[in-house]
Amino acid sequence: MRMPPEVNKHVQVAGTGSALPERIMTNAELSRMVDTSDEWIVERTGIRQRHIAGEDESTASLAWQASVRALEAAGMQASDLDLIVVATTTPDLVFPSTACLLQAKLGIENHCPAFDVQAVCSGFVYALATADNFIRAGQARTALVVGAETMSRITDWTDRSNCILWGDGAGAVVLRAAEEPGILGTVLHADGRYRDLLHVEAGVSSGLDKSRAVRMQGNAVFRFAVNTLDQIVDETLTRFGLQKSDVSWLVPHQANIRIIQATAKKLGMSMDRVVLTVDQHANTSAASIPLALDTAVRDGRIRPGDVLLMEAFGGGFTWGSALIRWTQQGGA
Ligand SMILES: CC(C)(COP(=O)(O)OP(=O)(O)OC[C@H]1O[C@@H](n2cnc3c(N)ncnc32)[C@H](O)[C@@H]1OP(=O)(O)O)[C@@H](O)C(=O)NCCC(=O)NCCS
Repeated sequence: MRMPPEVNKHVQVAGTGSALPERIMTNAELSRMVDTSDEWIVERTGIRQRHIAGEDESTASLAWQASVRALEAAGMQASDLDLIVVATTTPDLVFPSTACLLQAKLGIENHCPAFDVQAVCSGFVYALATADNFIRAGQARTALVVGAETMSRITDWTDRSNCILWGDGAGAVVLRAAEEPGILGTVLHADGRYRDLLHVEAGVSSGLDKSRAVRMQGNAVFRFAVNTLDQIVDETLTRFGLQKSDVSWLVPHQANIRIIQATAKKLGMSMDRVVLTVDQHANTSAASIPLALDTAVRDGRIRPGDVLLMEAFGGGFTWGSALIRWTQQGGA
């Protein structure tokens, strides 16, 4: 690892990338597996389809594809990286971390630190905040931040209130130290008292033979998410001195279109200023924000100078946000 001599003033996103499994599962296909319908799923969640990892795909392989694309967009080599942080709830292995598996797949031999962050659906915002602080503290000048999941592997395909929600995929961003912002700030929170509302029973220490399917009290989680995201929007804008009208794009965690609509309403934003991918990707947990971001960067909606508000809520409970002034992609 190269040791930068001093703290860095600002951090910019230099490139984005994403990856989705080829296999698509539509609501029609799901309705042949459980007692549901396309109409019900679209009305209650906004989801129309999800991508499902094949046998030869994993969280690490999706993370690798997304990372290669992000590095290419940034005009950088894997060997330029000083840090790798992967947000995931569905790692390939108990250990090594998915970040270490990714480092090996990328062929990096420079000994840069690599570790996973576990904050479920808020994972990407947590990982972004971590890497941002590493760079600001002068412990790195570049970082690869990835959200990658194979949620299909912890889905109970017989539970209709739950299996309709999840999808697989990965998204990545390359960060670099810069003279101008960049990332304007991040806000993170957690409240560990709500495990019963959203959790997976199986675990290394509590028993790998227990159920490994996501269990959720959907209605209660929904209400908690809307209220919490409502508050974090205010907190974020106040802390970093911006008005609602300063936000060009909302890039939310893609859990449910009704949760996203409530946040957009709170911001006084019309839905055409919201990056929506929940219809195509479903809830890909830590991957959903970087997947949405990469979609809107590549189709030209997000442009230099735009202010992006990212927000997420997930198991834990965890929640967080990031404010970013978008800058030119590619080499500095
Ligand atoms: C899961 C979720 C879509 C369920 O929608 P809901 O409007 O809350 O629905 P409810 O759970 O109140 O169930 C309403 C009825 O629909 C039924 N139902 C549940 N899933 C169904 C399905 N897939 N198809 C048809 N009917 C379904 C229920 O059995 C219930 O029937 P009943 O009234 O006869 O008992 C919604 O609660 C949600 O999205 N919650 C947030 C989940 C989330 O985002 N979690 C991740 C956070 S990161």
